[in-house]
Formats: sequence, structure tokens, C-alpha cells
Amino acid sequence: MSMHNNIILAIETSCDETSASIIEAKLKVKNEKLKILSNIVASQVKLHAKYGGVYPELASREHLVKILPVIELALKKAGKTLDEITHLAVTTGPGLIGSLLVGVETVKALAMAKGLPIIPINHLEGHIYTACIKQSSISKLRPPIIQLSNHPIIFPILSLIVSGGHTLLVKMMDHGKYQIIGETRDDAAGEAFDKVARLLELGYPGGPVIEKAAQKGRPSKFSFPVAMEKSQDLDFSFSGLKTAVLYEVKKLGKITPQTKYDLACAFQKAAVEHLIQKAVLAVQKYRPKTFILSGGVAANSCLRQELKEKIDFIAPPIPLCTDNAVGIGLAATHKLKKGAKNWYDIEADASQRLASD
Ligand code: KG4
Ligand code: ZN
Repeated sequence: MSMHNNIILAIETSCDETSASIIEAKLKVKNEKLKILSNIVASQVKLHAKYGGVYPELASREHLVKILPVIELALKKAGKTLDEITHLAVTTGPGLIGSLLVGVETVKALAMAKGLPIIPINHLEGHIYTACIKQSSISKLRPPIIQLSNHPIIFPILSLIVSGGHTLLVKMMDHGKYQIIGETRDDAAGEAFDKVARLLELGYPGGPVIEKAAQKGRPSKFSFPVAMEKSQDLDFSFSGLKTAVLYEVKKLGKITPQTKYDLACAFQKAAVEHLIQKAVLAVQKYRPKTFILSGGVAANSCLRQELKEKIDFIAPPIPLCTDNAVGIGLAATHKLKKGAKNWYDIEADASQRLASD
């Protein structure tokens, strides 16, 4: 039986994490064997915390400082050299243009120097593919080798991607075949968490701090309306909820820490309920065989718990919900044959849509 051994170096720099991952893909005629050999993520969270959000110019400068050390470390942890790499994969969009360019231009330089093909990956497909990791590997992120799940990913797939920049429902009939069936009309879910956290002066990034604050909140103290509850369409909206929190804060005047926790709790409840209502509607309409929850907000345990009550789903291990190169490399394993391009055909695109191969 013929077997190709591919070693992919994947890079992700679309926002504020500089990440590199090495993935081994043994492709046989009928199946594939994938191993994540390393995953390095250099987070810029501390750098941006004082601004309460990502400061684009600082982000790209920091990527420039980190990109080569992160790649070197990923190779070292994987026990590989650059000469053993057979393919490069990189996020080409969507994202911050300055941040994307650092990853894309670095990969182009490597491709040119080493004569390697590049597989361009959309950031959102990276989020989806990160969910193909076995849950038992969550606690084993430190050892170099992460075994992948043999969990059969059965099509059609519906994926709810909830991140800081995006909120959308995607239908997949096959690998690389995407149809967007719903998306946010205004703010992204993670953006709403970040803005409400800033409003309540709880810190940054907003998702984890809101989640923690909400645990101390009293559920019946405040109640915010769930967006588009009566509508049957699959779009999302978070700006009304954010404004409702703002008005409540203004009305209250000075607020105690306990009131902040109560508000965080009510906000999270309404945000999660909105996501779940639309996910359920989509499942009823499209009847998928696999449901994937992904993106930074998929780390939210309230969302995971509530969704579990309604839909059988898979999601990435919590530490891999936020941006990382693992998903970029995993998405690339499905494009090894068709998707590889020459360096001069690769371009960063800040507003790249999720499109089919
Ligand atoms: O996917 P990601 O790393 O970046 C984008 O592609 O945007 O997502 C980051 C977003 C941030 O808005 C952050 O507040 C949110 O994910 N997030 C969470 C949680 N952890 C991260 N939101 C809710 N609950 C969490 N535990
Ligand atoms: Zn992301």
C-alpha cells in the first residue's frame, strides 16, 4: 500500500497570537494518520490588556519579534529540522492585515528558500478543524506528541464558529466545502464579551473574565432580552444586548462588585441563549450528522453545558479554542493534494470570506 509521509509547518498570526505547529500526516490510500508533533503559541494578551483590546500596530510589531523564535521552538519540540518539512501552511485571512502579513511573508520566504509548496488556510476553517482533536489530549498538551481522535467526522457538518471577530453558522458537505448559513449582523459574540467586560471594568480579554464573574452572579437579579428570539432566520445580533447592559449600568450609577457579577451573569445568559436558539434552529433545518462548536467563545463552559442539553456536539479542547496553528495544520492535511500553491500565488487578505476549495 502506498503511503506518503508529510510533515507540515503551520503558521497562524491573524490577530494577537503568534503560533507555529508541526503536524505529521501519513496518507494511505484509504485513510490518514495524523499526529500533532508540536504547538507553540506566543500570546500578546499582556501587551494589549492596558488598551482593553488588540492594538493592531503593536500586534504586528510583536509578531515580527516572535515569529522566528516560535517557528524554531516548534521545530525543536517536534524533533524536526526545516529540511524535513514537506509543506507549509499559513492563515491568509481574515484578520488584521499587519498581523497576517508577518505570517504570510515569513512563510513565502521559507517556501522560496526551501522550494516548498504553501497551503493557504482561512482562519475560520482552522477553528473548525481544531475540533478534530480527541478530548483526552486536553491534559496532555505538554508532551510533544498529541494523538488525534479517530472520531469519525461525518458529513454533513454544521459548525457554529464563535470568536472575537466572527460569529457564523457554516454547513459543510465535504472537506473544504463551505456554505455560510447564518452570521452576525453587527458585533461578534466574543467582541460582545470583550466590550461588556470593558464596560464593567472587569479586565481583558473579556470572555474568561465575564465567565468567572458570572459564576459569582445571582441569576435572577437582572434579565436581558434574547436577540431575535421570534425570528426563524439564522443570523445573529449582539449589539442590542451590549447596549442593554450599557443602559443598565448608566441607570444604576455607581455599582458594587456584586452588581457587576450579577450583570455579567445576566449578559452571559442572554448571549449563550441567543447562540443556542440559532444553533437549534439550524440543526432542525439542516439535520447535520456532526455538530462542531469552535472559536474562542467555545471555551465558555456555560455555553458548552447549555448546548450539551440540546445538541450532541464536538469542540476543541479548551486551550485550543482560541487562536493557534494546530487547526491551520489540520485543515491543511485535507488540502495536501489539491490546495498546495507556489509562494508567488499566496496573498494576505484581511477580509477573506470562507469559501469552498
Ligand atoms: O478565536 P479567538 O482566539 O480570536 C478570534 O479569531 O477572534 O477568540 C477570541 C475571543 C475573545 O473575544 C475572547 O473574549 C473570547 O474569544 N473568549 C471567550 C472565552 N475565552 C475566550 N468568550 C467567552 N468565554 C470564554 N471562556
Ligand atoms: Zn480566531
